[in-house]
Amino acid sequence: NNLLQFVLGNESEDGAVVAAWDWRSALDEHGLGKFAYSILTGDLQTIVGGPLFLLLTKYHRELGPVFKLAFGPRSFIVVADPAVAKHLLRDGSKNYDKGILSEILQPILGNGLIPADPDVWKRRRRVIAPGFHRAWLDQTLSLFDDCAADLIGDLAGRASLDPGDLLPKTPAAWKAWKHQNPPPGVVDMEERFCSVSLDIIGKAVFDYDFGSSNSESPLVRAVYRCLYEAERRTTAFVPFWLLPGAQFLIPSQRDFNRDLRLLNAKLDELVRRALEADDDDDDDDERISLLDFLVTMRGEDVSTTQLRDDLMTMLVAGHETTAALLTWVLYELFHPSGRSSHHLKRLREELDAVVGARAMTYADILDCKFARLCLAEGLRLYPQPPLLIRRALDDDQLPTTTDRPVRLARGADVFLSTWSLHKSPDLWDNPETFDPSRFEKKKQGRDGWAGYDPDSIPATSLYPNEQTADFAFLPFGAGSRRCLGDQFAILESTVMLARLITTFDFEFAVDPKATLEPKTGLGGLPVADVGMRTGATIHTENGLWMTVHHRTPPLPLP
Ligand code: HEM
Repeated sequence: NNLLQFVLGNESEDGAVVAAWDWRSALDEHGLGKFAYSILTGDLQTIVGGPLFLLLTKYHRELGPVFKLAFGPRSFIVVADPAVAKHLLRDGSKNYDKGILSEILQPILGNGLIPADPDVWKRRRRVIAPGFHRAWLDQTLSLFDDCAADLIGDLAGRASLDPGDLLPKTPAAWKAWKHQNPPPGVVDMEERFCSVSLDIIGKAVFDYDFGSSNSESPLVRAVYRCLYEAERRTTAFVPFWLLPGAQFLIPSQRDFNRDLRLLNAKLDELVRRALEADDDDDDDDERISLLDFLVTMRGEDVSTTQLRDDLMTMLVAGHETTAALLTWVLYELFHPSGRSSHHLKRLREELDAVVGARAMTYADILDCKFARLCLAEGLRLYPQPPLLIRRALDDDQLPTTTDRPVRLARGADVFLSTWSLHKSPDLWDNPETFDPSRFEKKKQGRDGWAGYDPDSIPATSLYPNEQTADFAFLPFGAGSRRCLGDQFAILESTVMLARLITTFDFEFAVDPKATLEPKTGLGGLPVADVGMRTGATIHTENGLWMTVHHRTPPLPLP
């Protein structure tokens, strides 16, 4: 039946409109060889002609908030409706697990929170969640400041250098540039954010300094390649890594297994060291990592493998998400069109009044209200990850805000497209525009959706969340599988943003429009002019290359 729907496209029995992906034009465009190769290697992005979430948004605009995507022999129910989101993530969440996402991530994350079966998940979540307590978050604030100071020191060294005529002039030169030594004075901010957030996760979660901001050790390379493989697998629709002999015959799989062994050995060593330190009464290290907390709170039944899986999950969940958020917020604030210059001005006024030479405190973060709205708006426009994945454990009926409830059969795979939800013209005014001030205004609801109310943001919340937007905004998911690191991520990003914006001016190193082919996504949807690649998070195509200038007058460095 799926295969027929794939070929023909029609109305499905369960009430969802069917989108049959147009494989014929992809075949025409790529030719049989490249088409087959891309399918086998799981290179979905090439085959569909752009990031998957854009393809889904195109269908949402044509077919409505719920449709069924027949994709080869498989099919998925794809939703972008606040009522369905509330059902999947909160009210009916007991009937769903993470389905294919668990299958894909299990070899990497073992029994970590994301892929764990419901029993293990319940036990571990109960132990890990209290680890993100307020005293620990307060302590990590000084860590964020230390790491921001390192980043600022690095950028300050480059800020006085002038790249002059060395900037590439042609698209080909621009693409090649990434792999060569870039001219002085320019920096790939996406790469810098990745390094600094990796260092932060290492220190905060397991008291280990990856030192990735200064060098690229084999361990750091292994982390990046493992994360890349995890991303590749989440967007592959043929599980190429399960093909017989793949572990030995496919070079990328051989490398991946070697990297994973290296990373696991390091994490095992850190767990062992934390266990020894826990037995040593004289150990009076002041900074407590999340691992120290988990070791202290461990029950009799927790194995070292479980602790390692917990750490690996934090590494994967908390590293590139924060880096991607900072990348896209910087991209929007300093866009060469000047489209956000009024927001940048307001942000600077706020930050200049709060940020000084002393370390930032929790009270300072509360004072950086507009900065936090900029981050929330960054997560609305560029949700990380852009899709949430679930599988129905039993037959179910999805309530929608339209008059078409959709039946789900047991085992059905559901994609909740946060990208489409956050950009729905039915829910947001000017959804494609970066406008942090939208979160200060009330938005009228409509049938089945209560709207958005800024007055309902709880005083303890650092950002507008799913409750305040009645599930039209899911920056950190919702319900029982909600992000554990939301506060951590907002504190980290606010400190980074505040320090960078008050110290430097950023300018796009190359006018992307002058050097890249003009880009529109599938079906004419706009793609950021630095390009977009997707995996678990949304990346630029070639990096966010910027020239860095000291602000005049300069502010004191932390
Ligand atoms: C889960 C987003 C940072 C740890 C999630 C989910 C989202 C999310 C949307 C829910 C996934 C789902 O329902 O399928 C983000 C964003 C971040 C961020 C946008 C940064 C801007 C972090 C950090 C950590 C973390 C820094 C840890 C230090 C986790 C964990 C889960 C999770 C452990 C799984 C929770 C569970 O299944 O019980 N995150 N996250 N995240 N996140 Fe985050």
